[in-house]
Amino acid sequence: MSSATPFVPSQNIAQLRESATIAVSQKAKALKAAGRTIIDLGAGEPDFDTPAFIRQAAVDALEAGATRYTAVDGILPLRQVIADHANARYTGAGRVLATDVVVSTGSKQSLYNACVCLFGPGDEVLVPTPAWTSYYEMVELARATPVEVLGDPSNGFKVTPLLLEARATARTKGIMLNSPSNPTGSVYAPEELRAILDLATSRGWYVLSDEIYQRIAYDRPAVSALDVATVRDRLVVINGVAKAYAMTGWRIGWTVSSPAVAKAMTAFQSHTTSNAATVSQHAALAALARVDEADLAVNAMVAAFHARRDAALAILRQEPRIEVLDPQGAFYLFLRAPAAPGGISDGDAFCARLLDEAGLAIVPGSAFRTPEWVRVSYAADQSDVERAMHMLVKTYRAVLEGTG
Ligand SMILES: Cc1ncc(COP(=O)(O)O)c(C=O)c1O
Repeated sequence: MSSATPFVPSQNIAQLRESATIAVSQKAKALKAAGRTIIDLGAGEPDFDTPAFIRQAAVDALEAGATRYTAVDGILPLRQVIADHANARYTGAGRVLATDVVVSTGSKQSLYNACVCLFGPGDEVLVPTPAWTSYYEMVELARATPVEVLGDPSNGFKVTPLLLEARATARTKGIMLNSPSNPTGSVYAPEELRAILDLATSRGWYVLSDEIYQRIAYDRPAVSALDVATVRDRLVVINGVAKAYAMTGWRIGWTVSSPAVAKAMTAFQSHTTSNAATVSQHAALAALARVDEADLAVNAMVAAFHARRDAALAILRQEPRIEVLDPQGAFYLFLRAPAAPGGISDGDAFCARLLDEAGLAIVPGSAFRTPEWVRVSYAADQSDVERAMHMLVKTYRAVLEGTG
């Protein structure tokens, strides 16, 4: 019998790691399937169904024949409504046109399109850290180098022009911004965002502003880069329907960029996936165009996230030794893992212990390049979130006290 030829990964993916957040969810699902009771606060996915009017719009579109290819960059009415929403925010130079919008199969694809088209070998890309795990990998897949810029934990891990300048070199080509942030829940204030955009403009850097959580903000609205930008030739705003409209499975995202960048990304997409699923584009069109119905649905979901955030924080704050950030948006809590006596905070060990002893799945901060921290998603039933926070506090104390 001849032995199988071993698989040798290509140079393109030699460094690639599996998405740590998806890995946690898969492990939780496998344990559930094996009969264990698991609370999964690992997934970054709203637990709501897509609003009924959006589902119905998709059914209607299918019945009307939305089953064929569309233009690579998406159907015109969807690109137009995205441009209209952008123009309602943007007052700087150059109106946003439908031709500046490229619709894709999820904001993840939009981010990847942008990385591949804007960055390449020899380029460095600043990644405010902690950051969503895929940024680092996407920059590497583009054969550029991600440069971690560690934010200040006392300021919600947000970065400042000073911190960015300290890590910038002549090879810096761009920066990945994400507000509200996954994993910290931090939201940049208008003046903080403006200062970063001004620095990027003065240095000629591209700014990739991932605004997928923009509508999920609590105490005050989260600003878009479009609200504060005065020029947009090097700005790429990334958004999608997944999080705000509970449409993760529909896979629709988009970019708003300069016409030249849009053209390049459309060409790239034409050779990879072509258009996003036609029926999903029609569903996204309903979500964006039927503003009153959408606002009702989104506001109800955001109110539920808000209540869960407050309930979870109230439980965590009963233990003053827990260092937890004060999240203003998205649906994540970010906290420092406990340190055993004489040891250091270890997010991996804390997550493993929680899963093992309490059946609670959360994501280690190592996934976001901050291994002392852990991320909790509260996009889950509120009673589960509350039960999980009590378990977390109990295990946290046990680690601190060296018991168990
Ligand atoms: C910061 C961030 N950007 C992008 C995405 C991807 O979203 P989509 O489902 O639109 O691809 C996620 C999903 O977890 C995310 O957390």
